[in-house]
Amino acid sequence: MQKTRPILAWETLLDLEAEGTEARPPLRDRVESALRRAIDEGRLAAGSAVPPSRTLAETLGVSRWVVTEAYGQLVAEGVLDARIGSATRVAERQELPEPTRDIDRPRPRDPAPVSAPPIRYDLRPGIPDLRSTPRSRWAAALRAGLADLPDRELAAAHPFGYAPARAAVAAYLSRSRHADADPDRVTITHGATDGMDILTRELHGRGHRTILVEDPSWPRLRGVAENNGLRPIRVPVDDDGVDTEMLAAVAARTGARAALVTPAHQFPLGAALAPARREQLVRWAREHAGLVIEDDYDAEFRYDRRPVPALQRLAPDCVALIGSLSKSVSPALGLGWMLLPPGIAPAPSPSAPSLIDQAALAHFVTQGDFERHLRASRTRFRRRRQRLLDALTTELPDSSVAGIAAGMHLVLTLPSHAPASAVVDAGAAEGLALTALRRYTDAADRPDALVLGYGDLDDALVEEAVARLAALLR
Ligand SMILES: Cc1ncc(COP(=O)(O)O)c(C=O)c1O
Repeated sequence: MQKTRPILAWETLLDLEAEGTEARPPLRDRVESALRRAIDEGRLAAGSAVPPSRTLAETLGVSRWVVTEAYGQLVAEGVLDARIGSATRVAERQELPEPTRDIDRPRPRDPAPVSAPPIRYDLRPGIPDLRSTPRSRWAAALRAGLADLPDRELAAAHPFGYAPARAAVAAYLSRSRHADADPDRVTITHGATDGMDILTRELHGRGHRTILVEDPSWPRLRGVAENNGLRPIRVPVDDDGVDTEMLAAVAARTGARAALVTPAHQFPLGAALAPARREQLVRWAREHAGLVIEDDYDAEFRYDRRPVPALQRLAPDCVALIGSLSKSVSPALGLGWMLLPPGIAPAPSPSAPSLIDQAALAHFVTQGDFERHLRASRTRFRRRRQRLLDALTTELPDSSVAGIAAGMHLVLTLPSHAPASAVVDAGAAEGLALTALRRYTDAADRPDALVLGYGDLDDALVEEAVARLAALLR
């Protein structure tokens, strides 16, 4: 008797829950990564057909475009084979790029395995100097802010934030970021992620269904947009920042009218958006009644020249600036701001930051503590960055380093014999926290690289950390 073929349970084969849970990575990434995993692990054999996108979407309970996007990416990489008139199939493998390649895909969690030792050499990007958190100044600001809060304010509604905090932030943004900042257009938020959440909800309500994002970029903000119904469409970045010509072309093709960018310091590659591209981006937004969201995340830390002014100043009518204390002071504060164009006033968030924290923020900024802290941090980071560069020159003289002019991280391109995934895992096993560039991009043509953060790297351990990294690369 002929054996009947078992019916594949696709929802079991592609376990989306296993593809990370923290910060809910975009569904598209999870579907793609589940497919990739099933193929890499041999559960989906070369030559086998994958279901039509509509069928798989229904089975997994996701929208059809999530599946078509995931298929599209895998076809572009040659993992799936799509031929007109026949089913899409798992491609025959030519050669395996890296046995551990999948480990490097964008992952929501810290790369360290559960059993890894505690972090001794912290080279993660995006973390400020935790040892220099201005605890006593913040405590003083809290005390003073609370003491100054009039009783009647304690139970009053502050829909866009506490007025003194909005005024203090507006003054700081004008002074320091050269923004065109009116306190009435400032909203106090929990940070950039919160700002992005509020803004993308608003955009969805206005009919947007897509958003242009840089590639590479920080997955969390992309994920927030996606969770609010805006499909992120990636636009490549080069040495002048995001390719605005390509952005306009992709927008024309897809109808996208919103873009999320990091003009002062591209995350994570480090370029400042070139002046001509700034103009072009703004022109595009104006011509299409679009919105540019400027993630102004670490622009204060510039080492080769004065900080690059906010893009918002060029076009306050169509740029929304989102900022935060997470990278400049501490992620533990959970405070940030948005500066919005006049025509945009999203419904206030029901879970606004505590009024007492906002009063502290007002004090911290108006008393000059914030900018003093920024100046001290800039000096510290400049020194540490130089030390890190010197150590890299000594230990890895042939290495190529980029993105060093600003911020708290740089990009180290790896030699071809040292795949980033293997280096990240080997580092984690000895307390060296590393991040692969692949965490921020799916583009196969990017060189294998590490994004080395030095915000929280102990000064006394810089040389030791680099010596360990060099040993891993040998
Ligand atoms: C690119 C980028 N933007 C913004 C932020 C700050 O986000 P939040 O204010 O939500 O902590 C980070 C933090 O790591 C970041 O990497």
